[in-house]
Amino acid sequence: MVKIRLTRLLEHCAKQQFTSKSVIQRRPFTSTQFPELSQFGDNISSHHDLHKYSITEPEKFWSILARSRLDWSQDFDVGMSCDMSAGQFSWFQGGKLNVSVNCVDRWAALDPERIALVWEKDEPGDTVKVTYAQLKTMVAKIANLLKQAGVEKGDVVGLYLPVSPIAVATMLATARIGAVHSVIFAGFSSDALATRLNDAKAKVVVTADEAVRGGKRIPLKKTVDTALENVDSVKNVFVMRRTGTDVNMVANRDTWLDDGLSGCTDDCAAVPVDSEDPLFLLYTSGSTGKPKGVSHSSAGYLLYAMVTMKHAFDYNQGELFGCVADIGWITGHSYVVYGPLGNGGTSLLFESTPTYPDPGRYWETVERLKINHFYGAPTALRLLIRYGDDYVTKYDRSSLRKLGSVGEPINIEAWQWFHDVIGEKRCDVVDTWWQTETGGIAISPRPSAPGAPLAPGKPQRPMFGMDPVLLDDKGKIVEGNKVDGALCLATPWPGIARTLFGDHDRFVNTYFSVYPGYYFTGDGAHRDENGDYQITGRMDDVINVTGHRLGTAEVEEVLTEHPLVAEAAVVGFPHPVKGEGVYAYVILKEMSEQVSEEKLREELRKIVKTKISGFAIPEHILFTPGLPKTRSGKIMRRILRKIAADKSDELGDISTLAEPDVVQIIINKHLHK
Ligand code: WTA
Repeated sequence: MVKIRLTRLLEHCAKQQFTSKSVIQRRPFTSTQFPELSQFGDNISSHHDLHKYSITEPEKFWSILARSRLDWSQDFDVGMSCDMSAGQFSWFQGGKLNVSVNCVDRWAALDPERIALVWEKDEPGDTVKVTYAQLKTMVAKIANLLKQAGVEKGDVVGLYLPVSPIAVATMLATARIGAVHSVIFAGFSSDALATRLNDAKAKVVVTADEAVRGGKRIPLKKTVDTALENVDSVKNVFVMRRTGTDVNMVANRDTWLDDGLSGCTDDCAAVPVDSEDPLFLLYTSGSTGKPKGVSHSSAGYLLYAMVTMKHAFDYNQGELFGCVADIGWITGHSYVVYGPLGNGGTSLLFESTPTYPDPGRYWETVERLKINHFYGAPTALRLLIRYGDDYVTKYDRSSLRKLGSVGEPINIEAWQWFHDVIGEKRCDVVDTWWQTETGGIAISPRPSAPGAPLAPGKPQRPMFGMDPVLLDDKGKIVEGNKVDGALCLATPWPGIARTLFGDHDRFVNTYFSVYPGYYFTGDGAHRDENGDYQITGRMDDVINVTGHRLGTAEVEEVLTEHPLVAEAAVVGFPHPVKGEGVYAYVILKEMSEQVSEEKLREELRKIVKTKISGFAIPEHILFTPGLPKTRSGKIMRRILRKIAADKSDELGDISTLAEPDVVQIIINKHLHK
């Protein structure tokens, strides 16, 4: 498999040749930017030195930062104790702290009127600002309400909420009492929600009557009601009033959040938790149908989110950090909530979409709110490019200082547009590669460091603590430059996920057994002539649709639930806006002949939407009498991927397939689809 993907990867890299090298002047690296600089000794002054130190002396490096950047109730004894092969990680053992104190109380004490959150609601200009003092009150009240509902240390609270101060305060409220949050993206269907709540055995759900996105209302409470028909563990549901619409309230289970909060005091003692106690679960797709509950720690995760946010973006307090991701994804956790608030910063909560009410929305918001750092997804940029530059240039973007990209490879055209048009060639573009499992940015240019020219379309350099290596298909390290391989990380870092909820074996098998001694990312990468990293895409059966991770097996499972479907194989194909689109090959049962293909397609799309989410709907559904399989019955997805990508002339030798003739049938059907 590795070999096959490498060919794709080389083709991809050949396309990514970049001609006009963009070299931006960098400020010298100073102790203001890295306050602990002097503690690392006289020999360490440059970013390069510091990074090297962080991977050769990870325990010392992170212990110094943990002590200077976090507030502890009790200091730790052991900086790090990790065993990569067993997937065992422990950072700052013996220490106790509370994440909500670190994200809220210490800033509220220092500067109560400082703005913590700027909530830009769906309607432009409908903005709510929340100070650190106000956030502290919200967190304490919600924490008290959760306690009243019987939530105890270690219990899981499910959130199914729009991006909003309440959502952030609820995340922090769970942290305040040592509970664990599991935010489920509010675009997921009731089935997807139920699966995640059941897996985590969530006790309480916090939701809203409706969400509002792009002028449309989305019935969140209704979806929760349907989901809970199949969930026994949830005993209480709190409902935030977002639109004020009437919703069904189940007696003895559902409470309006504001009614509940009116009976709670704004004083709630923070529970000091162990460094390693879990802060949250976040479900993500893997290569099987079952989503993985990625579990993150308290101290290590928070520190890593804070450090990466500060240094990837050169963030300073007082600046408005505008990460437009939804809180339902890891980007929202690390760079809307924990990174910005841990650093005492001001964070934008963006409820709307890039095209509402028109494709100038992001830049109009930048002008009005004077956003300093804008962090978004390439898929949105690719969409906006199509509407032309006028939607950008009519707004003043002089407040912008850094532009960040996340979630998928950024193509050169989008990078260039981001840099030249949005950032007026003035702002650094930081392409940040990372994953739900890494907890924070792992590879990214370091524009705040000296001598770090930007290379478009590449995340380029490892962050502190990150030691990327490329491995070949025999598991040997590929040395030198201009090489490709499976991207692995060789040194533990504090932000690494600690387990998959309820399934540590799967954690070890997925990440630490493929290349023993290394964390395997699932991605392939190229190291170019300058030693810069470029990500070339997933090496497993996970695809990336509009920046959302999707396991092809999840879609296959859902498609085969249709009574007329005998078998399905799903692959990704290159899509000009979405990055990748979903392509489903479906074998029907014999009795399905009376039903029209178009009707069936419609039904299958609907099933995917109701069982997973809108973003997972297949763009193409091709009905086929068979699938290319090996003689042992394994579906050759490589062949299906080539056909979906219009590259059926590159199939190679297919004579060893069980039924080679089926390939030509599929090709013909694809050409006439
Ligand atoms: C992909 C999102 C190329 C990659 C933070 C990774 C990227 C997966 C980039 C993780 C990037 C993320 N360039 N690919 N800058 N950022 N990816 O867990 O395949 O939702 O493994 O985390 O997205 O997706 P996840």
